[in-house]
Amino acid sequence: MRHLISAADLSRDDAVLILDTAEEMARVADRPIKKLPALRGRTVVNLFFEDSTRTRISFEAAEKRLSADVINFAAKGSSVSKGESLKDTAQTLEAMGVDAVVIRHGASGAPYNLATSGWIDAAVINAGDGTHQHPTQALLDAFTMRRRLIGPDAGLGQDLGGKRITIVGDVLHSRVARSNVDLLHTLGAEVTLVAPPTLVPVGVENWPCEVSYSLDQVLAKSDAVMMLRVQRERMNAAFFPTEREYARRYGLDGERMAKMPEHAIVMHPGPMVRGMEITAEVADSERCTAIEQVAGGVHTRMAVLYLLLGGNEPAGAPATRTEE
Ligand code: CP
Repeated sequence: MRHLISAADLSRDDAVLILDTAEEMARVADRPIKKLPALRGRTVVNLFFEDSTRTRISFEAAEKRLSADVINFAAKGSSVSKGESLKDTAQTLEAMGVDAVVIRHGASGAPYNLATSGWIDAAVINAGDGTHQHPTQALLDAFTMRRRLIGPDAGLGQDLGGKRITIVGDVLHSRVARSNVDLLHTLGAEVTLVAPPTLVPVGVENWPCEVSYSLDQVLAKSDAVMMLRVQRERMNAAFFPTEREYARRYGLDGERMAKMPEHAIVMHPGPMVRGMEITAEVADSERCTAIEQVAGGVHTRMAVLYLLLGGNEPAGAPATRTEE
């Protein structure tokens, strides 16, 4: 594979290889010397046309841990504000010697266009496009689920066969939900989406998952409950239900969390809107993996970069040059 555009492009074996490689990267992070020389001499540009905290910073951390040279580009403050196109921006950056482009864009399909248009030769990694896909988020979520529900060592080589995952909230606007449905299906998990009828996408009946409108009915049979952020910035008009009604019917509070099996985890891709989709009590509980997901994001993105850019060092080789 030359690019990572969609979680749907990954086979079961591709995904398990990425998760296993991410476990190797996690072990490197426990060493005194955290850095690997695998991408020494390679240049990666982080091309962000939309705001981000977790994805942008964890890609940068992953690139630096692999010894790549990193260029950060934010559309705000760039010549994009003067009308420069994606094609001209990408070609300008590639002229500076870029081997890979990590792109976040508000338009669904922008990373696909960049990868297939012939505008540039660099590898393209989708860091979230519109309401379409966020494949590294789905991979880091699967990494977290496998660690928590099977175990870091026991999980090696394993998929998520038979695990029951519930994804709750604003599915309509969520690239996280779409990517997770695709990847979790590939990994053998059973997925149930729970959302208000107004936030369920048209055509969801063709997705490889179940749909429910009642969170209370599915909690007891969930191994993981993934809460989604309500994306007010992508909504044109006031949405139904109201915030209070949304929290009452679809928010996860302590009372609801108590209905989950003891082993079950609560997940959130972040950023969280505390008090609406998740209470502080749940967000700060030991069952909530939001911070573990962020940590796993660095390992998972290291794995993706390493596998895509074909580092010429064994993944676990210690750095000989620098210490972080
Ligand atoms: N989960 C996620 O994509 O967060 P950011 O928008 O902060 O990158």
